[in-house]
Amino acid sequence: MVLVRGRFRSRLGLIFAASGSAIGLGNIWKFPYMAGQNGGGAFLALYLGIVFTLGISIMLAEFVMGRAAERNPVGAFAKLKGGWWPLAGYLGIAAGFIILSFYSVIGGWTIAYLVKTAAGQLATADPQALGGVFGAFTTDLWEPLIYHGLFMALTMAVVGRGVSGGIERASNILLPAFFILLLVLVGRSLSLPGAAEGLAFFLNPDFSKVDAGMFNAALSQAFFSLSLGIGAMTTFGSYLSPRANLPGDTLWVTFLDTMVAVLAGCLILPAVFAFGLDPAAGPGLTFITLPAVFSQMPMGGLFGTLFFVLLVIAALTSAVSLLEVVVAYFIDERGFTRARAVMVFGTVIFLLGIPSSLSFGVLRGFTVAGKGFLEAMDYAASNLLMPLGAIFTALFVGWVIFPKALAEATNNGSLPFAWARPWGLVCRYVAPAAIVWILVNGL
Ligand code: TRP
Repeated sequence: MVLVRGRFRSRLGLIFAASGSAIGLGNIWKFPYMAGQNGGGAFLALYLGIVFTLGISIMLAEFVMGRAAERNPVGAFAKLKGGWWPLAGYLGIAAGFIILSFYSVIGGWTIAYLVKTAAGQLATADPQALGGVFGAFTTDLWEPLIYHGLFMALTMAVVGRGVSGGIERASNILLPAFFILLLVLVGRSLSLPGAAEGLAFFLNPDFSKVDAGMFNAALSQAFFSLSLGIGAMTTFGSYLSPRANLPGDTLWVTFLDTMVAVLAGCLILPAVFAFGLDPAAGPGLTFITLPAVFSQMPMGGLFGTLFFVLLVIAALTSAVSLLEVVVAYFIDERGFTRARAVMVFGTVIFLLGIPSSLSFGVLRGFTVAGKGFLEAMDYAASNLLMPLGAIFTALFVGWVIFPKALAEATNNGSLPFAWARPWGLVCRYVAPAAIVWILVNGL
């Protein structure tokens, strides 16, 4: 049987799909609350520094590997060198299973909150009452499970339609819709009386708050947000045409992802300050504090609903990239058809997510290394598998295939590539050393 690999149809296909992957719950749910907890602007400055040195270099390394090999992460290491290297690819596939299993649970929450907001069930300004709603929802047995299943089904529907017909088409519609919604919401938030104080908190750096823990938090957040370390960008790179400009596309994706994180901060923190709520509320910021904000805002029902539409879109395009990593491996290396790979592994990932979903309710007492199941999955992926994957990618590109990688990045010398030297240095030395440092600190 001749297998024809999928391919992005338009020049913007990769930028849209990779940005859709990068822009997700990490930007809108996690980034603002981490900035809120870590002293605002100082965290932002550190985050920007990491993204534009390490993040950008590893993303380009993944794109290069993918396009050079035209394979999934395991196949890419195997085809470009072989030996033990494909093991690094297997780490990525395993991380894809794990991350998507809990990501889909939170993705399900966003659909549930879209429904609840649209139905007017969250129209109260009392954070206590909203905390109660959130607690009742997440500890319930069936409701979050059903939404987790629904979220996985949507993800499978997109991935099942293939690279250009599913992923590329969905991103081409969803990403522009996402940006329009985001700008409308930021405008609404910044026009609230008292918004300036929140903006100042977000943008003024207090460098006295910088410590090792904050470095650590900024680094793992940067990798998660840019979808690095598991071969997601390798997989998307493998669907690229030989003419694409890899360094240019890398800059675009990094820039768009970072801009959305900053805009999400400008959306959420000013609104939180305007209504006198706590910016350090943590993971509950999106699900508890924000509904309180919307309920006090003129036309808050409408803007609240739009906000959760935004969040569902962001989560869905990211989940698609996670499932695609797994599916691409089984298509390329194990001879699965796309339809069968999506059915089988979508179901497996749904099942793997069940204990995460229940870890807030009936399985609350069941802990792994002192953490609830969802938290343990997140921790294993973000603090172990992803940093390891990123180290191997950097070392592989920097030391093992560098001349070939440089030729690939510049389309055999025909493209200008101003940051070729720093890229090589970061891949060889800076990224491995810095990541080993977080790995050690994180464990
Ligand atoms: N980047 C996404 C977010 O910010 C999550 C994500 C999608 C991801 N694909 C990934 C994280 C691959 C790590 C690896 O929400």
